[in-house]
Amino acid sequence: RGRGTSPFGFTPIEPVPAGTDKVVVPEGFTWSTIIAWGDPILPGAPEFDFDRQSAAAQAGQFGYNNDYTTLIRGKSQNDATLVCNNEYTNDELMFRGYTGSASLTPEQIRITMAAHGMSVVAVERKSAKAEWSYVRGATVNRRVTATTPFVVDGPAAGSRLLRTSADPSGTRVLGTFGNCAGGTTPWGTVISGEENFNGYFSAATAPADQAAAYQRYGLTGSKGRGWERVDGRFDATQEPNEVNRFGWVVELDPSDPTSTPVKHTAMGRMKHEGANVTIAPDGRVVAYMGDDERFDYLYKFVSRDTFRKGNSPKARKHNLGLLSEGDLYVAKFTGDGFEDGISDGSGEWLAITKDGKSQVPGMSLEEVLVWTRLAADKLGATKMDRPEDVEPNLVNGRTYVVCTNNTRRTPSQIDEANPRANNKHGHIIEITPTRGDDTQPTFAWKIVLIAGDPNDPTTYWNGYDRSEVSPISCPDNIAFDEAGNMWIATDGNALGACDGMYLYPLEGPHKGHLQQFLSVPAYAETCGPLVTWDQRTVLAAVQHPGEETGGSPETPLSQFPYQGDGQPRPAVIQIRPTR
Ligand code: FEO
Ligand code: CA
Ligand code: CA
Ligand code: CA
Repeated sequence: RGRGTSPFGFTPIEPVPAGTDKVVVPEGFTWSTIIAWGDPILPGAPEFDFDRQSAAAQAGQFGYNNDYTTLIRGKSQNDATLVCNNEYTNDELMFRGYTGSASLTPEQIRITMAAHGMSVVAVERKSAKAEWSYVRGATVNRRVTATTPFVVDGPAAGSRLLRTSADPSGTRVLGTFGNCAGGTTPWGTVISGEENFNGYFSAATAPADQAAAYQRYGLTGSKGRGWERVDGRFDATQEPNEVNRFGWVVELDPSDPTSTPVKHTAMGRMKHEGANVTIAPDGRVVAYMGDDERFDYLYKFVSRDTFRKGNSPKARKHNLGLLSEGDLYVAKFTGDGFEDGISDGSGEWLAITKDGKSQVPGMSLEEVLVWTRLAADKLGATKMDRPEDVEPNLVNGRTYVVCTNNTRRTPSQIDEANPRANNKHGHIIEITPTRGDDTQPTFAWKIVLIAGDPNDPTTYWNGYDRSEVSPISCPDNIAFDEAGNMWIATDGNALGACDGMYLYPLEGPHKGHLQQFLSVPAYAETCGPLVTWDQRTVLAAVQHPGEETGGSPETPLSQFPYQGDGQPRPAVIQIRPTR
């Protein structure tokens, strides 16, 4: 199909059939691995050895299943710090003879706990045209795992709902996991969403006073992943408040490997896909956040204090507290009618907290922050098709909300912001804040992409010729390049193709001209994405290669990243022009 040449000078690739174990990039581009699961990053950590894993080794090695990926530019063009979320582990692909979590040895459980969290690693290149490689043993390198100490801040810190027998203060939590999407702040920190935390707890019974919350957060009946066998806090019957210490936005300062990462209670607790910030005209910081569950909500946080420019220790210290206090809102979308042929309308931010007070009748401040889903239910927010990455585009001042899919929406549940029943392929909504000010209580919105096969009449291509756009399914993570073009990564392609990455220009003559740039290996999801500041490198995190029924160490369904290990390894790759 003649889709022409994209504004980025590449001819889009064709969809690659599902199950193909290959990385495909456009002609004129090349790819290589920067770092893979198990690569040693801390001093003294051993080389990766699939058959000789240990928890101690893993704690010094790159984690598993990389999702959000960022590069923080260093002192020169050619050095940077790579920070990556390690969302979860595929235990069935990590260990021979796995037959379920009961088959894991305690040491194997500790390995999986050490493979979660976040990885921080220095990267460098010889010149602007050279490829990036990681620096083993660099001073900034760090692993944050399921046992790393965190401090809790904000209004719910110390709440009765956060106190446990190991931490009666309710302010010190061990670990982070389920870290999915994320963002990089203007003050140089990384924020990361704790998403599917519920699955890590065995929750045979819910405490009577938390039954509704346990139900709403998917904890009721959760079987866990065996972690309770090495650490009793993962048994919710023993330690019913431990679950409340996960599901937050966490903030990590990658410039200081000795810093204690923070869990920000002011930003609410949900299955936080991630968070991305922008600075409003008055200097306050606005964070947009999705809660990735079918029929869950879009949220916004507005900081109490304002951003300070500059890198003085005083400014840095101030900015590190910006996400600690502020107002939390949930979105309500109103359509202006389908008659105009587009899904669009106005929106309202409903306050959950304001000026340090709960705005939800019958719920205290700590309750609305810990049980944010219950608070949003009461306010009548709009039930969305799984809001994943939500990211402000700093070039055009608009924010993009990626609704990945929702096959459970029925025709009677359609609204203009979620306009398709059995939404297998997802859609992307553009939000324009009133008067260009993200702190305003209202916004305008419209859908800019309804994904699927271009021949499917329910898809929407922003006015672009259907014969010239790439098929796309299940958008998940997004990023913007320096020109404001959107890059879309997909998870769970339902068109019989591998997942991939796509360029979607939002302005200019190619506006709406969706072009496939990358296809990832068998059964992997595409994460990242990231386009470097010099537009020379695109980063992609290849998550869960080989994750499919029948995949095991004995019958691996992927060999990615093709380094001769015989087993798939999640990895971060770079794609660069050959010239
Ligand atoms: Fe971890 Fe919502 O994807
Ligand atoms: Ca309309
Ligand atoms: Ca995701
Ligand atoms: Ca993003």
